[in-house]
Amino acid sequence: MARQGHLQIDRVSKQFRVSGAPLHVLDAVDLSVAPGEFLTIVGASGCGKSTLLRLIAGLDTAFQGNVILDGQRVTAPSLDRGLVFQEPRLFPWLTVAQNVALGLLNAGLGKAARDRAVSEHIVLVGLDGFQDAYPHQLSGGMAQRAAIARGLVNRPGVLLLDEPLGALDALTRARLQDELQRIWAAEGITMLLVTHDVEEAVYLGDRVVVMAPRPGRIAAVFDVPHPRPRDRSSPALAGLRDQVLAALEATTSGPPPTGMVHIASRPALAEQVFLPAE
Ligand SMILES: Nc1ncnc2c1ncn2[C@@H]1O[C@H](COP(=O)(O)OP(=O)(O)O)[C@@H](O)[C@H]1O
Ligand SMILES: [Mg+2]
Repeated sequence: MARQGHLQIDRVSKQFRVSGAPLHVLDAVDLSVAPGEFLTIVGASGCGKSTLLRLIAGLDTAFQGNVILDGQRVTAPSLDRGLVFQEPRLFPWLTVAQNVALGLLNAGLGKAARDRAVSEHIVLVGLDGFQDAYPHQLSGGMAQRAAIARGLVNRPGVLLLDEPLGALDALTRARLQDELQRIWAAEGITMLLVTHDVEEAVYLGDRVVVMAPRPGRIAAVFDVPHPRPRDRSSPALAGLRDQVLAALEATTSGPPPTGMVHIASRPALAEQVFLPAE
């Protein structure tokens, strides 16, 4: 299998219909991702980040424009695009090894080759010794490592990660950021990572894409020219983080759409919930 991971997103627009009315979710998104690039994407909630990843994954083919991976138009899900979500989505009745092996379900490998690929990827994500554990025996970080192994086991050209570390505590998240970076370097894979954490986006990305909402579109793209390994606390990275944050804030700083209830005009939540009964 050609495994280059050159992704071209060519004027991709997408509408949903909600209660009979069209909802314009993505508007003419253009993006070229180089083989082996680590691209991070930030944007306000609801701006279409997950939708964009689903289109790239081939899970939704009702859109305008083209998604092209290594010269081939994406028209359906395929093993050359791995996907990792915020929740690990492991099957509770399967072991770590069996969950990871699901990533090879349609790969047509013999048992020996499959077992070897599964073991290699369990080691790659640092879960050596836990192949026979069940999901309930894993911490949140370990479960997410297993999900990453499942996304990688078929050696996809592109790994799509939708807020994969968003549910983890700060320390585990920092550790897994470094692990992701190590895996990315070891595998030479193209990675697209959606995150709500601007610091994470700047720390991990070769480029950071800032999306704007209503309709979802690309508002800015920042190069992160800093060599790796990066120092999280370096002034250069902090300066870039502030620029990305400012660009992100600018995407949502207009007046709220009419009809939206302004939360400050309502009684404080604490009063609503905890007011003692008379
Ligand atoms: N299947 C769907 N049907 C209708 N609307 C949807 C569907 N999926 C997402 N949307 C809407 O599209 C917009 C973008 O959603 P999403 O891509 O999940 O945003 P993000 O991941 O950036 O938070 C939201 O307004 C959401 O409500
Ligand atoms: Mg999302």
